[in-house]
Amino acid sequence: MRFLGFAAWREHLNGGPNKGATVLFVPTMGALHEGHGDLIRAARKMADEHFEGPSHVVVSVFINPTQFDEQSDFAAYPATPEDDLRLAEQAGADAVVFPGVSEMYPEGVPGQVDAIDYGPLTSSLEGAERRGHFDGVVTVVRTLMRLVQPDWAFFGEKDWQQLAVIKKLVELEFEGIEVVPVPTKRERGGLAMSSRNRRLSPPQRQGAAALFATLMRVADSHDPSAACSEAAQSLESLGFDVEYLTVAQGDSLETKWVSGKMRVFAAVRLGGVRLIDNVACRQ
Ligand code: PAF
Repeated sequence: MRFLGFAAWREHLNGGPNKGATVLFVPTMGALHEGHGDLIRAARKMADEHFEGPSHVVVSVFINPTQFDEQSDFAAYPATPEDDLRLAEQAGADAVVFPGVSEMYPEGVPGQVDAIDYGPLTSSLEGAERRGHFDGVVTVVRTLMRLVQPDWAFFGEKDWQQLAVIKKLVELEFEGIEVVPVPTKRERGGLAMSSRNRRLSPPQRQGAAALFATLMRVADSHDPSAACSEAAQSLESLGFDVEYLTVAQGDSLETKWVSGKMRVFAAVRLGGVRLIDNVACRQ
């Protein structure tokens, strides 16, 4: 069922048999793909299997202007509301909410939002490459959490650093909400599913699989930190522009090696399309 704002959704929820339901929330920026499908299916499964009383899976679709560091990226971000509604409902959503800008930013979209400093979580990797990105993410997720008041909220591991930042936000500000990480969904060749993949040409999309293969090679090597620079060069030789390819702790994003905690993170551009991915180190 589609709602054009959280107020209408809340009224519906409180006015019917689902009043007081356990709320399972999947926030998105739309252009849904099967990676989002997995998030929604994980929420549906949990709703069906774990709660005795009523439960309600709600998906939001809002392209958040404050988290784009490049206006051209914001302008090019695909809006596909009809397809989003269909995919979300097929995956098991009870409600899909499309809030307007005025509900998310009642004072208007600010030119700049409050800066967030969670140490390396917000300052490293994506935080360093995309200035202000996590400020915008935290701002909008904070508003979404206040409006939805979920019990459980689902986020994909493809955006691992975002997931870590949101876990921190929830730990600091939202007692009672559980963040549920959902593994990355990959295309057949290994490319992590992303709304941006549709901007790749078919040959680029095939070639982009080399990113995952390279990350796996680094993650499985006996010295992943040392393997990064050769791996970055090999990606460059295949036509990728590498922004970073590095190893850091999964929970804190600190770079000091701690066995069992490390992940390989990369951000690259292929034909102007920015792709990110990450995998766990074997050791
Ligand atoms: O991952 C996303 O789609 C967005 O960053 C999020 C969490 C919905 C906030 O706009």
